[in-house]
Amino acid sequence: MSDKVIIFDTTLRDGEQSPGASMTKDEKVRIARQLERLKVDVIEAGFAASSEGDFQAISAVAAAVKDSIVCSLARANDKDITRAADALKAANAKRIHAFLATSPLHMAVKLRMSPEEVLEQAKRSIRFARNLAEDIEFSAEDGYRSEMDFLCRVVEGVINEGATTINIPDTVGYATPELYGDFIKTLRTRVPNSDKAVWSVHCHNDLGMAVANSLAGVKIGGARQIECTINGLGERAGNTALEEIVMALRTRKDYFDMVCGIDATQIVSASKLVSHITGFVVQPNKAVVGANAFAHTSGIHQDGILKNRDTYEIMRAEDVGWSANKIVLGKLSGRNAFKQRLQELGIAIEAEADLNEAFLRFKSLADQKSEIFDEDIIAIMSHSAAAEESEFYRFISMSQHSETGERPKSRVTFRVGDREASSEAEGNGPVDASLNAIEEIVKSGAEQLLYSVNAITSGTQSQGEVTVRLAKGGRIVNGVGTDPDIIAASAKAYLSALNKLHDPSQAKLNAQMTP
Ligand code: KIV
Ligand code: ZN
Repeated sequence: MSDKVIIFDTTLRDGEQSPGASMTKDEKVRIARQLERLKVDVIEAGFAASSEGDFQAISAVAAAVKDSIVCSLARANDKDITRAADALKAANAKRIHAFLATSPLHMAVKLRMSPEEVLEQAKRSIRFARNLAEDIEFSAEDGYRSEMDFLCRVVEGVINEGATTINIPDTVGYATPELYGDFIKTLRTRVPNSDKAVWSVHCHNDLGMAVANSLAGVKIGGARQIECTINGLGERAGNTALEEIVMALRTRKDYFDMVCGIDATQIVSASKLVSHITGFVVQPNKAVVGANAFAHTSGIHQDGILKNRDTYEIMRAEDVGWSANKIVLGKLSGRNAFKQRLQELGIAIEAEADLNEAFLRFKSLADQKSEIFDEDIIAIMSHSAAAEESEFYRFISMSQHSETGERPKSRVTFRVGDREASSEAEGNGPVDASLNAIEEIVKSGAEQLLYSVNAITSGTQSQGEVTVRLAKGGRIVNGVGTDPDIIAASAKAYLSALNKLHDPSQAKLNAQMTP
């Protein structure tokens, strides 16, 4: 049996289902390129039949990615599967991922189908999919809560029809490690043709056990594919965290005795990119990618680390890409140093004009902030001048006044289409006043669901990264803004969210709807 664990990343599909985390086409392509640098085996780029936008995004990812298999989710019916195959046309290597629920509850309440109907539909859909692609995954949705005898029949049937990967999701995060591992093992033992497919695990984190369950699925159950997301992004409590899986397999190779093809040095860049694009901040004590994951503050620990790093460290920060997280450039750095750093960060700039424009932004930031970190560069590169040019609302400048005992006032100047607008307003604090000033002109009436500020590097020198989540007309959008001045960052984030509400081409592909 192979000792290679296939890493299937579903940040762009299951991760995107997290409220407010949905992405634009360009954002998906940017993340996909980073996933490719990370060397994930399979990138699930979306759910082609869910929207025209998602179809376009999957096509764009399929065209951009060369080394990883690109996959689209589909319900187990001809229409969805055809749509998935069409979206994947440009892919070097493609996979169609069809799913159908198999638990008694889902079949009766959601699908309103009998078990026999589900069995037939599962088989029929895989037979159909095999005409369109060689690489076919079947997921038994809510598989872990399915009845064993029935699930065995479904799995045997779809393998006979040509499914090459069998995924058994713990859709609701109900499993515990030993039970889940045993469940996979029993299935593999009882399904007569089980050796004809790769077995896969897909766990949700409702009880905080997604990573442990996935690893048990591999260790006890014999699965050889793990489905996961960067930072554990996903609906409710999220999915299995890719970075934790990869580092567990690596750090405890003595126990798991398995390998995966991931380039772990790209983990931190991937984590920061996903967090920046979605606005989902990584908690400081998050394993592997949290800001404190490698920080030793207690004197005893520091002393031990200085004597021998192994005393308190089981992994090296640099092995997951933290070493890149240092001062890289400053005010006096030249264009070549900047270009080289972009290359090291895996950020491709083809046109000379784009490089010049990015360098100007870098210089302007270096004038405000003496030390420039990798995160600053990622933030600079997230907003190209061309993209900003096309935005309807665009931040120009602001001033504010706040004094103890007085209500703060703010004046914000910004572009609205091709005219300049300026307005002044009061608020509970300077941020509130600034957003009120913008609202005086825009009158969006959008409901604010979230406002969060995060220092993107350490210390008060850092740029602030602000995320604003707005809801209007049933749609939810996120706006992200960065600036050394957090009030300006807040205004930028607010305008960015308003742009997404205003401009359908900027709309998130699978915009989550308010209940
Ligand atoms: O959690 C789940 O069951 C899924 C399937 C669609 C694979 O995401
Ligand atoms: Zn899922």
